[in-house]
Amino acid sequence: MRRKSANDIKSQKNRAPIVCLTAYTAPIARAIDGNVDLILVGDSLGMVLYDYENTLQVSIEQMIEHSKSVVGGTNKSCIIVDMPFGTYEESSDKAFMNAARIMKETYCNGVKLEGGKKVAKTIKYLTRSSIPVMGHIGLQPQSVLVDGGYKVKGKVKSEWQKYIDDAKAVEDAGVFAVVLEGMTEPLAAEITEILSVPTIGIGASPKCDGQILVTEDMLGLTNVAPRFVKKYVDLEKIINKTSKDYAYEVKNRLFPNEDHTYSMKFESANIKKIKQ
Ligand code: KIV
Repeated sequence: MRRKSANDIKSQKNRAPIVCLTAYTAPIARAIDGNVDLILVGDSLGMVLYDYENTLQVSIEQMIEHSKSVVGGTNKSCIIVDMPFGTYEESSDKAFMNAARIMKETYCNGVKLEGGKKVAKTIKYLTRSSIPVMGHIGLQPQSVLVDGGYKVKGKVKSEWQKYIDDAKAVEDAGVFAVVLEGMTEPLAAEITEILSVPTIGIGASPKCDGQILVTEDMLGLTNVAPRFVKKYVDLEKIINKTSKDYAYEVKNRLFPNEDHTYSMKFESANIKKIKQ
């Protein structure tokens, strides 16, 4: 099975639901590789791994190092890397330099950036320069400070047109897929119907062409998981219990036992005895 490309993801529209998860490190990426069509090295790593308040502090160096780890640990799923805040907004040239650096240093399959109409020109420049781009509209975590929080979009019909225009703008600019985040079901359904490229939902209903979750949310490793997250397992509980078991065994000299201990070869042990 070869690694999926951005084009493979695009061609799944109306054929098969697109399964996506995030990963920031090789062990998690290895565990999900091939079970999902696409792995996103999301800038959510700032909040999930580094305990930042939001994603704005994440640097391009952090994205590159984590992405190298994810690409290195996988060979089946398509790997897309988030362009962090401050690396693409200023100009198309700057966006290209940073996107090309991410592509060259990580060997990922493409990049994702947030924004609709306002970044369409930049997306067009990147896609025309041979860089596959995934769009991200609706709730945009990098805009949390100007938006005044993480607010669901499309609750009133009067605001729909803005998001429909954003969706069309990124499609026209050449994205291979677009993330719809924090959106009401009717709006997500309308955008999914209009676009010829797949929509990937996160908090945007089952009407999207695919779904993405932050893996640590799904595994129960984050403290505040939003309503749209399904916690499939409580790994924090399991890790807590396992570390208690380990502590008990070390304190009571039950671990390590002979199964985990290196002994000398029989002859060497004898020679040592003779010398004594
Ligand atoms: O950064 C991220 O993990 C994301 C997903 C939540 C879509 O952008």
